[in-house]
Amino acid sequence: MPDPGPVAVFAPAKINLTLHVTGQRADGYHLLDSLVVFADVGDWVHLAPADRLTLAITGPQAAALPVSDDNLVLRAARLMGAGGSFTLEKRLPVASGIGGGSADAAAAVRACAAARGCALPAAADVLALGADVPVCLAGRPVRMTGVGEGLEPLAHPLPAGWLVLANPGVAVPTPAVFRALARRDNAPMPGVLPQFGTLAALAGFLNAQRNDLEPPAIQIAPVIDGCKAALAAQPGCLIARMSGSGATCFGLFADERAALAAETALQAAQPGWWVAAGALRP
Ligand code: C5P
Repeated sequence: MPDPGPVAVFAPAKINLTLHVTGQRADGYHLLDSLVVFADVGDWVHLAPADRLTLAITGPQAAALPVSDDNLVLRAARLMGAGGSFTLEKRLPVASGIGGGSADAAAAVRACAAARGCALPAAADVLALGADVPVCLAGRPVRMTGVGEGLEPLAHPLPAGWLVLANPGVAVPTPAVFRALARRDNAPMPGVLPQFGTLAALAGFLNAQRNDLEPPAIQIAPVIDGCKAALAAQPGCLIARMSGSGATCFGLFADERAALAAETALQAAQPGWWVAAGALRP
């Protein structure tokens, strides 16, 4: 077999534009209805051929993630039955509601498949790595249902847009946020999602939807509310909301210049926060 050579796979941040908690399964996992998109901000997973399976972590967020045997990159490689020398370039804040570990796991699965020239596994086969791994493996805008295994591509492409992501530097454990929910039987999104001709139309739709995890997350970490408000106050921000179980919040912008100006302004105003702007990935 020819040497496949090194492979580099981008692991984009996952953003829940909406996240409705509609029920709970007998095993405790929650049923969700979520409009999920990806931003041009993310980690990189590099894979070089090697006999043994190893992992090194580099990048600005590496200090927050010590190398351990249960790192999702290694778990993904084991699931794929692959060896190799992995380097995870960690740019996204850890445990912050934008996919991080799930995005890395999905990128590692892609890297293994590319190195071996084999097909990607089915969503159900990667769900055991984490509820958000199937959606991250899809890597494009979808309506996500069930605990994360239901992936419905959007009937119409989303308009072009920009996301500004801001994390106020608090870690909120996902199980604690789910536990603090007041109700678990909230309404889903409309059965059929409308076609969004403009980003303003998308923002209008989003304004009538929710992230049900936002109130319990803000109860645990009130700074999330301030983070959301800081994004919402930026010129050109059409809507600001928390993603996933937090603490990262996103602002949606139609205009690249406004998004980059918001990124610069927030970085200056809140040097302790992680702030990054990126295009909405089609
Ligand atoms: O699957 P993952 O490891 O990402 O989930 C972390 C935790 O979040 C789970 O242990 C569970 O407490 C909670 N969770 C949930 N319902 C989901 C996804 C996650 O209750 N759909």
